[in-house]
Amino acid sequence: MTNATAPGKIILFGEHAVVYDRPAIAVPVFQVHAEATVQARDDGKVVIDAIDLKRTYALSEAREGDPIATIIRLTCARLSVEPENFSVRIHSTLPIGGGLGSGAAVSVAIARALGKFLSELDADKRGQTRKNDFNPRSSAVLRVQLSSQDISDLAYEVEKLHHGTPSGIDNTVIAFEQPVYFTKGNPIESFRVAQPFTIAIADTGIAAPTKIAVGDVRRAWEANRATYESLFDEIAEITRKARKAIENGEVNRLGALMRNNQILLRQIGVSSSDIERLVLAATTAGARGAKLSGGGRGGNVIALVDGVTQDRVQRALLKAGAKRVIVTTIS
Ligand code: MEV
Repeated sequence: MTNATAPGKIILFGEHAVVYDRPAIAVPVFQVHAEATVQARDDGKVVIDAIDLKRTYALSEAREGDPIATIIRLTCARLSVEPENFSVRIHSTLPIGGGLGSGAAVSVAIARALGKFLSELDADKRGQTRKNDFNPRSSAVLRVQLSSQDISDLAYEVEKLHHGTPSGIDNTVIAFEQPVYFTKGNPIESFRVAQPFTIAIADTGIAAPTKIAVGDVRRAWEANRATYESLFDEIAEITRKARKAIENGEVNRLGALMRNNQILLRQIGVSSSDIERLVLAATTAGARGAKLSGGGRGGNVIALVDGVTQDRVQRALLKAGAKRVIVTTIS
């Protein structure tokens, strides 16, 4: 039996604009995770047990575009193995459509667990075969282990199937498990967090598929390119300033940058009354800044808190209707 997990993520600055080649900043969130367990079988089948969806089904019966079936097939193909003789159980504490990267976390957890399982199986096979005069050059059994980049690339293929035009930020931050300054198509850039800061993450409880928000923004951009390009430029400027502030330990500058990013997200049309209510509750209770995180239209709101404001902001968010609040420190 082989097990692997993958964290959630939040986007601190730059969502949506990142789809249009602007930079964004994202960090992993370890308080939530997806977990995949792979177990050997001997009946030739591949069986998927999606615990949260209360569904057990054979890979051969998966419907077209099933994300779990897709990541299993892609991972096996990447390792040049036929998918057979294993079951995959998947469980996630990430809300679906919550902007925390649930789809990418599930893909990454499965690719990691399956990659480990197949390479362990492979080592066993190699041991057995050697005893019988195995010729190591004649077989495909000397397989490579999957790197974080391989896993990110596999998860990105699934993201493309389901999000249309994903930037790749979710699979990247989740596969690498570190804060990233991300620009589509470029190698990841890590950055120094000079002074730790704390973010409260509040779930509106409204599941909002990223695909729909991203598709709506695409249509609005097509109808009004000049306006949207300049909104994305303004977001990019905020993201660049935020990176500098984080690297220089100027945490007090982040609040205003979050507030300004939220104004622009509202203008591009991805906020909602639930998001605005939580943003207002957080800032009224003392958060230095708050904004939606991820696709918007629902999902999660993030608020910048400190030792003094954290409890007050958390209580205010719950009172304003947040379904749960997670507090995470970025360091
Ligand atoms: C989703 O977490 C972030 C978006 O910018 C979409 C993407 O980057 O693919 C809304």
